[in-house]
Amino acid sequence: MNTTEFIGTLVLPGVKESVGLARQYATSRLMHAGYTQTDDAILLLSEVVTNAVMHTASGQPGGAINITIRVLARTTLYVEVIDDGSSSVPTPQMPDEMVAGGRGLQLVELLTDRWGVRQTKKNRTAVWMEISMPSKPDEEK
Ligand SMILES: Nc1ncnc2c1ncn2[C@@H]1O[C@H](COP(=O)(O)OP(=O)(O)OP(=O)(O)O)[C@@H](O)[C@H]1O
Ligand SMILES: [Mg+2]
Repeated sequence: MNTTEFIGTLVLPGVKESVGLARQYATSRLMHAGYTQTDDAILLLSEVVTNAVMHTASGQPGGAINITIRVLARTTLYVEVIDDGSSSVPTPQMPDEMVAGGRGLQLVELLTDRWGVRQTKKNRTAVWMEISMPSKPDEEK
């Protein structure tokens, strides 16, 4: 079914505390909408929000992070995290470069169906991910 279900959108300051708040918000909103098997999505959301705090201007004083969550066709979770931009580009590291980090986007590669990066009109950076989910229990035949 070709539906898009809006789950929520949230603006947070670019501080470490926001990672936990983003997790709580996403878990609560998805649960309210009837989606319970969201562990992978919540893990990836944490990684991408952490990256926004650590690697972009969102982590500077006054910086912000915008999160949007939707469910596509009842089975695919769409998560988008917009940061305030950076001189670097979100790039998954090769395994031999991962000694001191570089695990976040490797997990994104591994656990998403698709993901990508785009610049917004305001020159912010959007990292988006599509993650498959089991359908809601009440819709299983
Ligand atoms: N939103 C972003 N904007 C710009 N650059 C980014 C962004 N997210 C990640 N990057 C770049 O991509 C690299 C890889 O990100 P990744 O999350 O895989 O590793 P890490 O954050 O360096 O380490 P870890 O996630 O294991 O703590 C980062 O080191 C950073 O240079
Ligand atoms: Mg990271």
